[in-house]
Amino acid sequence: MSLVNPSPEKPSSFKDESLTFDLAKEISRRRNFAIISHPDAGKTTLTEKLLLYGGAIQQAGAVKARGEQRKVTSDWMELEKQRGISITSTVLQFDYLQTKINLLDTPGHQDFSEDTYRTLAAADNAVMLEDAAKGLEPQTRKLFEVCRMRNIPIFTFINKMDRPGQEPLALLDEIEAELGLSTWAVNWPIGSGEQFRGVIERKTRDVILFTRAERGRQSEERHLKIDDPLLKDFVEKELLDKALEELELLEEVGPERDLELIHAGKLTPVFFGSAMTNFGVRPFLDSFLAMAQAPVARNSSDGLVDPLRKEFSGFVFKLQANMDPRHRDRVAFVRVCSGRFEKDMTVRHARTGKLIRLSRPQKLFGQDRSVVDDAFPGDVIGLNNPGMFSIGDTLYTGPRLEYEGIPCFSPEIFSWLRNPNPSAFKNFRKGVNELREEGAVQILYDIDQSKRDPILAAVGQLQLEVVQHRLENEYGVATRLEPMGYQVARWVSGGWSELETIGRIFNCKTVQDAWSRPVLLFKNDWNLGQLNEDHPGLELSAVAPVVSGVDPISL
Ligand code: G4P
Repeated sequence: MSLVNPSPEKPSSFKDESLTFDLAKEISRRRNFAIISHPDAGKTTLTEKLLLYGGAIQQAGAVKARGEQRKVTSDWMELEKQRGISITSTVLQFDYLQTKINLLDTPGHQDFSEDTYRTLAAADNAVMLEDAAKGLEPQTRKLFEVCRMRNIPIFTFINKMDRPGQEPLALLDEIEAELGLSTWAVNWPIGSGEQFRGVIERKTRDVILFTRAERGRQSEERHLKIDDPLLKDFVEKELLDKALEELELLEEVGPERDLELIHAGKLTPVFFGSAMTNFGVRPFLDSFLAMAQAPVARNSSDGLVDPLRKEFSGFVFKLQANMDPRHRDRVAFVRVCSGRFEKDMTVRHARTGKLIRLSRPQKLFGQDRSVVDDAFPGDVIGLNNPGMFSIGDTLYTGPRLEYEGIPCFSPEIFSWLRNPNPSAFKNFRKGVNELREEGAVQILYDIDQSKRDPILAAVGQLQLEVVQHRLENEYGVATRLEPMGYQVARWVSGGWSELETIGRIFNCKTVQDAWSRPVLLFKNDWNLGQLNEDHPGLELSAVAPVVSGVDPISL
């Protein structure tokens, strides 16, 4: 990628009418989604099975870097392996029949939910994966809220039906009562655990029989009509009757299938299956693709931008450095929102107004990457980032536009980051600035300029450990963390001038974020409540306001 001197030359755009037609075709055959779940619900397993259908991988177990690949993963991915957690998230693009699928993978550990929030900003659909025995779990609820904020359509896959689970009706009730989301069962389970016999497809009334395959082996997919006399050889009458009664109940009192409500994120199609035995995965994929929305219009400074807009536009939703330590690379992940992206095209960087030539755009597939020639709305491309991209940045050709930024979520853990070795300050500064830019952690600063050490503000403790680990391994600086004992952060919506009007505040520490905006830190919600009571007019926000057009301060 190279910077191009601002010149009268216009950024490239597509004039050819025939391309509009191609564009419509390309958009309509794309589906993009992210999976939201609580750790252990089976996200990795389901992802693997989906990729097998797309022919994108040859064997199960390929999603987690294994064997040879381990050698090229970075040091902090080493940390993932030591801890058995998943921090990295990747983009997986594959073809299935006529559809091009972009699966935006998200980190599995809850301490990295900030990263998942950002990835959801780039997703058009979400698959909510539940463990049939556990039902809704905390991380799923949290991520669901993010989907709701953006009205993302949600498709629910209730997994592990081969193990004893909760009553299916109870699982649907929980989703309706707790999330306020109506449900529409696409299939209905016959029994569960040892007595799991399969599912009834609601539309066709076909039974797909479950045959218990050896662990890890694919179970066979056998269909029988509901009135097929053979059925009794596979399914006990009581189990079938119970399932049919429940289905009848759903027909009577449940909502109707309504695609508009599904796309508005108000009704979730529900599928029952077992990812590990590969049961119900292919029917899920088929129905999901038929109902999921194609890349949609997105909000910008210029109103809604149609993906059919001829000129290219997209935004950066994720930055990642040193994915491959052999190259010490920094990659910006860009979600294409409109038009056709072409290799070597010159685009405008909305925040700085600069023109940039994108000469080596990459397609990333897990750890692998290859140069892409073109990309369409719904796709994700990886750009080399020589430090000029921030999360939320817009790139475009044609008339100016800027996409809505991606909010930062309220951190809950705060710690001074000390650098005991002054001679390593240069590397310390570089590391802190780059990791902040990447969004690995939020950085706050004391308002007293003499206290130069940064404050790490994170959602989860592991985030801090990863930052320390990376500073040591990638920048050669051993650091020390000094916990601050605060748990709540609030941005002052009115800025410094509003803060000044209320005078001294007790039981709270005032700091500034990377954009010099005031942030108040509280030890607990009670102290925050007290401030709210004392100053009801003071507007505070748990989410950092989106920044546009300003460069952050650095260490
Ligand atoms: P995650 O990415 O959401 O954290 O979950 P992952 O796929 O790693 O699955 C967590 C555990 O649940 C794994 O077992 C996996 O085999 C199991 N699992 C996933 N889907 C199903 C299912 O449909 N039925 C059953 N019975 N189990 C399922 P593990 O013992 O932790 O790991 P492993 O020994 O399989 O590697």
